[in-house]
Amino acid sequence: RKPRLSPGEIRARKGAEPVVVLTAYTTPMAQLVDASCDVVLVGDSVGMVLHGLPSTLGVTMEMMIMHGQAVARGLERACLVIDMPFGSYEESPQQAFRNAARLMVETGAQAVKLEGGQHMAETVRFLVQRGIPVMGHVGLTPQSVNTLGGYKVQGRGADGERVLKDAVAVAEAGAFSVVLEKLPADLGARITREIAVPTIGIGAGLDCDGQVLVIDDVLGIFTGFRPKFVKRYAELGQISAEAIAAYADDVRARRFPGPEHLFASELAPKPEGKA
Ligand code: KIV
Ligand code: NA
Repeated sequence: RKPRLSPGEIRARKGAEPVVVLTAYTTPMAQLVDASCDVVLVGDSVGMVLHGLPSTLGVTMEMMIMHGQAVARGLERACLVIDMPFGSYEESPQQAFRNAARLMVETGAQAVKLEGGQHMAETVRFLVQRGIPVMGHVGLTPQSVNTLGGYKVQGRGADGERVLKDAVAVAEAGAFSVVLEKLPADLGARITREIAVPTIGIGAGLDCDGQVLVIDDVLGIFTGFRPKFVKRYAELGQISAEAIAAYADDVRARRFPGPEHLFASELAPKPEGKA
């Protein structure tokens, strides 16, 4: 069996081929995503999407490890990247290494992703020099929602220089790719031109080297809110609601189970000629 795509192969896509990324949190979804994507991200969005948390701040190492293990069981081809949760890496490069190594060893992920720009560059370098590939994440960094003051577009006007410096800092520190979240499209294009590794956009325009979305947003399963950058490719939430209502109707009307779902009290005789 062919090995999964490596972080180095993803890095080499710069200027060559778009990088297709989706999140996944479970084995069956990982199998579906693996068939079409280059990178599968176990995002800390899992806290909001599957656990009903109000933000990503309450996501723990244990949650990331459990979902990372589930996703790893479903992957054959895609590169597996796992988010470092809030509080697991910001304190020091040493703390980041300890937790990143644990995430990789316990899940089989090939890389970690962490949020932050210039102030996290030292940590990115520390991890990469010690064998841990890192995906950066700049622009809107949801773990900093309380200091950013909401999930606002980042890098408008003069603030664009700051976001550019953030992306350059993590790229130069050795990140193999950088997520750009919720930036003006022209800033996404400029950062993509200026850094040597692939940019993975989410609400950062068409010129990024790749794109990422949250799988439950793409499928219309998570409908709590819909950011402007989400494109829904299916309405599985709606389809699920209809299926569940039809089941409830059948049970109440005693239409389910049907004859084909029943077990007889005597075993049927084996067909003639068969042992
Ligand atoms: O947690 C997540 O799903 C992410 C992506 C949306 C980039 O960080
Ligand atoms: Na995330």
